[in-house]
Amino acid sequence: MAEWESGKEAKNFHVDIPYENRPFFLKGANALDWGMQNRLARVFRPDSGRAVMLAIDHGYFQGPTTGLERCDLNIVPLLPLCDALMLTRGMLRTTIPSSFTGGIVLRASGGSSILKELSDEQIAVDIDDACRLDVAAITVQVFIGGKFESQSIHNMTRLVDLGYRYGIPVLAVTAVGKDMVRDARYFRLACRICAELGAQFVKTYYVETGFDTVVASCPVPIVMAGGKKLPEIDALTMAANAIEQGASGVDMGRNIFQSDAPAAMLQAVRKVVHEKMPPREALDLYRSLKEKKR
Ligand code: R5P
Repeated sequence: MAEWESGKEAKNFHVDIPYENRPFFLKGANALDWGMQNRLARVFRPDSGRAVMLAIDHGYFQGPTTGLERCDLNIVPLLPLCDALMLTRGMLRTTIPSSFTGGIVLRASGGSSILKELSDEQIAVDIDDACRLDVAAITVQVFIGGKFESQSIHNMTRLVDLGYRYGIPVLAVTAVGKDMVRDARYFRLACRICAELGAQFVKTYYVETGFDTVVASCPVPIVMAGGKKLPEIDALTMAANAIEQGASGVDMGRNIFQSDAPAAMLQAVRKVVHEKMPPREALDLYRSLKEKKR
């Protein structure tokens, strides 16, 4: 007999306990729909609230970058160590095993190369393809103050609209032209514009002075960009400082894959980001893991 027909009233509705209404763990993300929050939770770890992203999308404008000549050999072994991977659909389909369960942050802008004006980008991925690949987020460069500023902002807002249609968050990357000042004032401006115009999270550079104000004035999570290769201790210190000042994670490329021991470096960065390990200790960890590998 079906339960409905039995007329039994033995259910326990726990009427004395209010229904749980948990806020989502990420800054500025409470008003997002379930699918978008779920995708963000593939990038940011719900237990720490932070993310270690590995950026390998450099080839979309500069070809086979040092350390990325063979992603099958250099990057695939690192996959279990990153929460999310930022890359192009070409590298994803050709090289990344579909058994990878971390978040995919898909490079969705392109159209310029290092041989020309970098800010002259277009949207380079159809949203249908992003859905087909079941990515966790799509990402686009925003060139505030650059030659094609307005076009790059429009790329972002268009992707935000498409992302809302299918529940895919947008990561805006604040790209800095060669001649532009990299200070907190500039990054406050750039990050705030990206968030105001709808990006669900923003990638930006660390600055020695005032990074906390960049984070504080941005209503969505900020992930710290890695930038050019630094000595390991400097990269770990930069990541630790960014986390201490409120960043929700890091998205590092060259400082990982150009390191002498990329897997060891990634593990050290994980400790800094998720467990707030002091940089000196993380450096010791890096060195001992590197030594073990020999
Ligand atoms: C472009 O600016 C991209 O975001 C990069 O290709 C990449 O993500 C940069 O990573 P990193 O500076 O840490 O090597």
